[in-house]
Amino acid sequence: METVDFGTTGLRCSRLGLGTVELGLPYGLSKESPPDDAACIRLLHQAVDGGVTYIDTAAAYGRSEELVGLAFGGHPSRPLIATKVALRDAAGDPVAAPDQPEHVRASVHRSLRLLQTDNLDILQIHSAADAFLHDELVTTMQGLVDEGIVGIWGASTYGLEAPADALEEAKLRVLQVAYNVLDRRLEEELLPKARRQGVAIVLRSVFLQGVLSDRRRQLPSSMASLARAADEVALISDQAGLSLSQLALRYVLFSDVGNVTIVGTAHAQELAQNLAASTAGPLPSDVVAALSHVEVEDSELLHPSSWPEQPIPSTR
Ligand SMILES: NC(=O)c1ccc[n+]([C@@H]2O[C@H](COP(=O)([O-])OP(=O)(O)OC[C@H]3O[C@@H](n4cnc5c(N)ncnc54)[C@H](OP(=O)(O)O)[C@@H]3O)[C@@H](O)[C@H]2O)c1
Repeated sequence: METVDFGTTGLRCSRLGLGTVELGLPYGLSKESPPDDAACIRLLHQAVDGGVTYIDTAAAYGRSEELVGLAFGGHPSRPLIATKVALRDAAGDPVAAPDQPEHVRASVHRSLRLLQTDNLDILQIHSAADAFLHDELVTTMQGLVDEGIVGIWGASTYGLEAPADALEEAKLRVLQVAYNVLDRRLEEELLPKARRQGVAIVLRSVFLQGVLSDRRRQLPSSMASLARAADEVALISDQAGLSLSQLALRYVLFSDVGNVTIVGTAHAQELAQNLAASTAGPLPSDVVAALSHVEVEDSELLHPSSWPEQPIPSTR
């Protein structure tokens, strides 16, 4: 697989990265439980054998960090591992004193132990919202870099405001954002600005947690405008003779708005499809042009936190 510059950090990584929340927690529209440890480790090795050199994990992803550590601890060709420190708990409530060095350092030391490593390649503030209001947090993150415990630091973000706020912080080197064929709102200004600043850009949400898959047919009526837009994309993929997942992934991978694109899956077959997409090259220009007309009427629905807490039946 082709490797790309990771901003101006001096790092290089594969164009496709692997997300691993699905290995640690029930996630996405399916809310499927993760497979057993052996299957998770096989999947991590399958990704690296297929050329993936960027793995996304987080302290908040259940057993994900531990499994990544089991798969790659002492491995001769260890991929770049990007983990995160959480400022909120699983219920979304702020952890006590999230900006305090003790909290960040305790999380980092747990990550080091679980990942079986002496230093973290990339550490991000997880779902940073108003995180950059806290000078103490920035000082602690940069301190970890200066001490050699962390290679580079940054933030993962949702929405439009949080990434814009994050880019105001000059020491930030990595920014993770949501970007997909239905949600291109950051491509005009924010992502070009990040590139100009030399910040490494990680794109996620390629399938909008499964909306851009057959699961769109199971969305509740309150999400109808999202399902309609996903149907339009599916029609364009049919007309182009491509599967919906290939089209959605190639659109983001070769968009040139980011550096690495991460996709999570707990299924070997889906990972194989994603690996194949990563070497298939850009979509034909007429397909990209057709996709540019697809709009989601209710843009609130582009943010998964606005989705109804309604179980969506699994198709598996
Ligand atoms: N704030 C943050 O830092 C943050 C937030 C969210 C996610 N992430 C990271 O990003 C990764 C991806 O999460 P995301 O929200 O961006 O989800 P996504 O990639 O938009 O969608 C992931 C879901 O798509 C499905 N999928 C994957 N490959 C597929 C294929 N070839 N065909 C059909 N369906 C496929 C899988 O669901 P099924 O297996 O059920 O089909 C998977 O759970 C996570 O693993 C995590 O590492 C980070």
